[in-house]
Amino acid sequence: MNTLTVDLGDRSYPIYIGTGLLDQHELYSPHIAGKQVLIVTNETIAPLYLQRVRNALSAYQVDEVILPDGEAYKNLETLNRIYDALLEKKHNRTTTLIALGGGVIGDMCGYAAASYQRGVNFIQVPTTLLSQVDSSVGGKTGVNHPLGKNMIGAFHQPQCVLADTETLNTLPERELSAGMAEVIKYGLICDKAFYGWIMDNIRALMQRDPAALAYAIERSCRDKAEVVAQDEKESGIRAILNLGHTFGHAIEAHQGYGNWLHGEAVGTGMLQAADLCWRMGHISAAELHALRDLLVAAGLPVVGPADMAEDDYLSRMQVDKKVLDGRLRLVLLKQIGEAYITSDVPRQLLTQTLLAGDKLGQA
Ligand code: NAD
Ligand code: GLY
Repeated sequence: MNTLTVDLGDRSYPIYIGTGLLDQHELYSPHIAGKQVLIVTNETIAPLYLQRVRNALSAYQVDEVILPDGEAYKNLETLNRIYDALLEKKHNRTTTLIALGGGVIGDMCGYAAASYQRGVNFIQVPTTLLSQVDSSVGGKTGVNHPLGKNMIGAFHQPQCVLADTETLNTLPERELSAGMAEVIKYGLICDKAFYGWIMDNIRALMQRDPAALAYAIERSCRDKAEVVAQDEKESGIRAILNLGHTFGHAIEAHQGYGNWLHGEAVGTGMLQAADLCWRMGHISAAELHALRDLLVAAGLPVVGPADMAEDDYLSRMQVDKKVLDGRLRLVLLKQIGEAYITSDVPRQLLTQTLLAGDKLGQA
């Protein structure tokens, strides 16, 4: 097992990465202050992993809530079911919530923890690649609104993150690809050497080579932890973690939550951002092509939805947490391995990118 730290002063916490971690009660117990725990999971993950986590926590009053599966349920209505369970089982302010699942469960459980009795503890037990490399780390929690992705939420850091990489063995192929988009993101925004490593190892990663996956998860978490430690509440640098997300969130919301996976939308969104960067002269045609090839090798879509017109993007992109004084702001690349945030986006070039269709990323 490897342990990384998210360095946030007296709210610092460990990320444990390894195999067989779900069963290890000694990993959970230092992070549980009271006598009660509520495991929040969904109907897909429960039959696979719930009993193991229950067993590891048998020293506590263990309750559970099993939610319906899917991004379409990441909303206030489903969130209420977590509050219902907490109140019905009389959980008090020393309770600890356990988020057992992917990013949807992690974000919802985290927001329930942030808001129940004005804030209780929670532990992230991520079971998808995407949640192990991104959503479980950094304390962003929340739910979707029909008009905008993740629009209701809070920053609330977990007590620890317990990433059992063996859980990835049961992950569907499409979900592995979605997680790979966020892995590629770290290379693009801040870690050129890692980006080169991903290019060299994409086949091994997609074949779920355990050593390659473990390295990618660790390096991604290290990169994310460094950014979060510098800017926990996203007043500056943390926004670079949203490369491709302004485009991607527009795709997700327009297509109906869950029809495009979050990671798929982010992958295409990153290609759109890179396409714009090529048009702006920041990256070369060869670098753009190489990114497109990498996304294809990762099993990700490289063309936006055929039914999205320019206005469908622009209206959705205006409902973005980075919008400031009504001005669109985008995360772009100065070069491969270095992202920046700007509101200085040449409108004509953005239009060309949005209308690129199947020529996207082909320079
Ligand atoms: P997800 O939570 O929907 O999980 C994907 C699918 O895999 C689901 O059907 C789930 O039931 C299933 N699953 C999970 N673990 C499994 C396993 N081990 N074996 C078999 N099936 C398994 O999707 P995700 O990609 O993990 O997360 C996407 C969500 O994360 C989005 O809502 C996105 O907004 C959010 N997100 C949040 C942050 C953050 O910083 N908080 C960052 C990135 C993404
Ligand atoms: N996934 C973006 C962030 O955590 O800031």
